[in-house]
Amino acid sequence: MNKTVYITGGSKGIGLGIAEACLQEGYKVAITARTQKDIDAAIAKLQKIGKGEVLGIQSNVKNLADEEYAIQQVLDKWGRLDVCIANAGVGKFASIDEMSAEDWNNVIDTNLTGVFHTVKAAIPSLKKSKGYIMTIASLAGTNFFQNGAAYNASKFGLVGFTQAVMLDVRPYEIKTTTIMPGSVSTYFNGRTPSDAEAWKIQPEDIGQIVVDLLRMNPRTLPSKVEVRPTVPPSARKKQ
Ligand SMILES: NC(=O)c1ccc[n+]([C@@H]2O[C@H](COP(=O)([O-])OP(=O)(O)OC[C@H]3O[C@@H](n4cnc5c(N)ncnc54)[C@H](OP(=O)(O)O)[C@@H]3O)[C@@H](O)[C@H]2O)c1
Repeated sequence: MNKTVYITGGSKGIGLGIAEACLQEGYKVAITARTQKDIDAAIAKLQKIGKGEVLGIQSNVKNLADEEYAIQQVLDKWGRLDVCIANAGVGKFASIDEMSAEDWNNVIDTNLTGVFHTVKAAIPSLKKSKGYIMTIASLAGTNFFQNGAAYNASKFGLVGFTQAVMLDVRPYEIKTTTIMPGSVSTYFNGRTPSDAEAWKIQPEDIGQIVVDLLRMNPRTLPSKVEVRPTVPPSARKKQ
C-alpha cells in the first residue's frame, strides 16, 4: 500500500530531502511551508521525480488552525494520513544577554509548540491508519552549547515531548520516532549549501533514514535516532 505522508517545512532542506525519498518509494507526499513561491518551486522539482503524488499547502506551524486546515487538505485529497513528519524549525543563536523575547518566542513557538500543533492535528487520522509520527529534533536536543539557550531549550523540549507522545499513542499502534541530526547541509539559519559542506549529512541521507524507519518490522520501534557526520572537521586526523 502506498503511504500518505505529511511533512511540515518541506520546501527546502531536510523536509525536501525526506519528500524526495518518499516519492521515490511511490508514496503520496504533502509538504508545507510559509512561503508560497518556495512551495511552488519545490512541487515543480518533486513532480520531476515522476513517481508518487505531491501536494503543496501553505501553513505556519505556529497556528493550530493552519495545521488542522493542512491535514484536512490531505484527507480531502487522499482520504487518509499514514505518516506525519514534524520537521519545520528555525534557529536563532545568541547569548542570554542578547536574546530578545521576540526571538525566544519565535524559536519556542516554531520548534516546540509548532510540533505540538502538527501532532495534535494529525492524531485522529493516525489513530485510524495506525500511522507513524516522526519529529526532527537535533543533537542540540541532548548537547547544550554557548548561545544555544533558545534552540537547546526548544530541541531538549522536543525530544522529551516526542518520547512522552510515543508512550501516549503506542496503545493505538501508532509508532513515534524523534530523529536527532547533527550538521546537515541546508538553508538553516540563513546558510546556503555549498561544496564546502560535503562533509555534512545531506538532506537525502535523512530521507533514507525515514524510508528505512517506515520499512521496519511493525513489532520494532527505533524511538530515538541520533545521526552525525562521520568525520566532522574537528575530528579530522592531522597529517
Ligand atoms: N540543518 C541542520 O544542521 C539541522 C540539524 C539538526 C536539526 N535540524 C532541524 O531540521 C529541521 C529542518 O531544518 P533545515 O535544516 O532543513 O532548514 P531549512 O533548509 O531552513 O528549511 C526549513 C523549512 O521549514 C520551513 N519553516 C520554517 N518555519 C516554518 C513555520 N513557522 N511553519 C511552516 N514551515 C516553516 C521553511 O519554509 P518557510 O521559511 O517558507 O516557512 C523550510 O521549508 C528544523 O527543525 C531544524 O531545527 C537542522
